[in-house]
Amino acid sequence: MAEDLSIQKGTKKEQYESLIPQIKGLIEGETNWVANLANIAAALKEQFNWWWVGFYMIENEELVLAPFQGPVACTRIKKGRGVCGASWEQSKTLIVDDVEKFPGHIACSSASKSEIVVPIYKDNLIIGVLDVDSEHLSHFDQVDKFYLNQIVALLK
Ligand code: SME
Repeated sequence: MAEDLSIQKGTKKEQYESLIPQIKGLIEGETNWVANLANIAAALKEQFNWWWVGFYMIENEELVLAPFQGPVACTRIKKGRGVCGASWEQSKTLIVDDVEKFPGHIACSSASKSEIVVPIYKDNLIIGVLDVDSEHLSHFDQVDKFYLNQIVALLK
C-alpha cells in the first residue's frame, strides 16, 4: 500500500487518471469496508479539496453516515429524501447544479451549492452512495460521473 498520495495537477481527467490507480493500491488486499471507504474519502479530499466527500451506507432501510472528509453531517437519510435518498431510490447517479433548486435537498451545510451522488453496488444490489458536495455552483459534470463510478466499482 502506498504511504503517500501523489497529487496531480492538470485537467480533471488527468487528476482522476492519476488518482484511480493509487486508490486501487490503497484498497488492494484490504477487506475491511470502513478502512477502504475512509481511505477513498481521504484520497478524494486530498486530490480535489472538495467541501465534503464521503459515504452513506444502507442499514435497516436508511442511509447511515459512513467515513467522510469535511464538516460534520447529518447521520441518517430516508429513502427518497434529499439528493442522496433520491439517488438510492432511483438507483442512479444524480448531478445537482444548484442544491437549493432540488426539491427536498437536505442542507447539512449552507455552504454546499452543488452535489453529485453515485450509488454503490454489491452483487447488483445498491448498498450505499458516495456523496460529494461543493461550495461552488455547477461544480460536477459527466467527467466526475464517469470516474466516480469507476472508483466505487473498485469496492468489492
Ligand atoms: N445534501 C445531501 C445530504 C448529505 S450532506 O450534504 C453531507 C442530500 O441532500 O442528500
